[in-house]
Amino acid sequence: MAEKQIKTIGVLTSGGDAPGMNAAIRAVVRRGLSSGLNVKGIYKGYNGLLNEEIVDMTARDVSDTIERGGTILYTARCAEFRTPEGQQRGAEICKKHGIDGLVVIGGDGSFAGAQKLANLGINAVGIPGTIDLDIACTDYTIGFDTAVNIATDAIDRLHSTACSHKRVMLVEVMGHRAGWIALHAGMAGGADVILLPELGFDEQKVYDAILGRAHKGKPHSIVVIAEGLKFPDKTRVIDYLTEKIEEKTGIETRKTVLGYIQRGGTPSPYDRNLATRFGGYATELIANKQYGRMVCMQKGRISSIPLKEASGKLKLVTPDNDLLVQGKRMGVSFGI
Ligand code: ADP
Ligand code: F6P
Repeated sequence: MAEKQIKTIGVLTSGGDAPGMNAAIRAVVRRGLSSGLNVKGIYKGYNGLLNEEIVDMTARDVSDTIERGGTILYTARCAEFRTPEGQQRGAEICKKHGIDGLVVIGGDGSFAGAQKLANLGINAVGIPGTIDLDIACTDYTIGFDTAVNIATDAIDRLHSTACSHKRVMLVEVMGHRAGWIALHAGMAGGADVILLPELGFDEQKVYDAILGRAHKGKPHSIVVIAEGLKFPDKTRVIDYLTEKIEEKTGIETRKTVLGYIQRGGTPSPYDRNLATRFGGYATELIANKQYGRMVCMQKGRISSIPLKEASGKLKLVTPDNDLLVQGKRMGVSFGI
């Protein structure tokens, strides 16, 4: 029997939002339409799928969105979709709305959901969108570059008060499992100490690094901490170290938690163009009947890998990371 012709694709964003997701939606819509496909937008991730919040998308619907942060399709977390009953219902709703292929823009949790739909016969494809860059098998994810730019700008600004007041400034950046933002923004911002969840830290090494600088006539220091680095009782490292550094070094110490500022606002040109390439490629995968795959960037080229390879796995900073190694050689302390 001849394979069914793909006529309609759906697109949704799921998990945490990331700057550049709109550029990916825009690319899916416009590339889908230019291939002669109907495109349906599904609001609020799997939540909207289960509530059948599904609308037809035209090229006009994605006008003036490439420069906007967040996601025009909204995003949500959906506990019901974690259950086999929820997944079965999601697959039936896709079929009811004639959705032959589904593009899921999100993180590894969203891809686990996409894989479940693929197992139920829905032709799903994933696009990696998270500021954390913690998705396996891709060099970049949508939003990471923007978040690093925002965090670097914040670190640059903190240098002013650190220098003027001769203070230690601690800044916590996002990354609940991986320290990619801390590593990249910390290095780009000329941080003196960078603490990552992957490496843990020896607090004495942090005090030694700060005191070592003070002895060389530089009492000000910048310490960047990834939010995922927590004590077993979940105490935030930034709270603990702000008090302890002042006590152990005698230098005035202040803290800043950047939080959601890193996830909002205008996406960088890099993220917009990455998302455009990912979105176009994902749509072409579906049109070419290559399902159950995640779009990725490897060695500068856009390609794809089976969703199974990416879902449930994490991309973490390893001790041999070249930026980390060069940082260490130049005297940056990683607290280990
Ligand atoms: P992210 O995609 O950014 O990793 P989450 O882990 O919160 O974000 O996942 C987003 C949504 O994907 C969840 O709310 C849930 O609906 C769905 N999801 C996550 N994990 C699974 C799973 N193992 N099976 C089915 N659906 C899942
Ligand atoms: O997008 C990733 C991330 O920003 C993590 O670094 C952070 O811990 C998490 O999302 C928090 O997001 P939410 O409050 O939306 O769950």
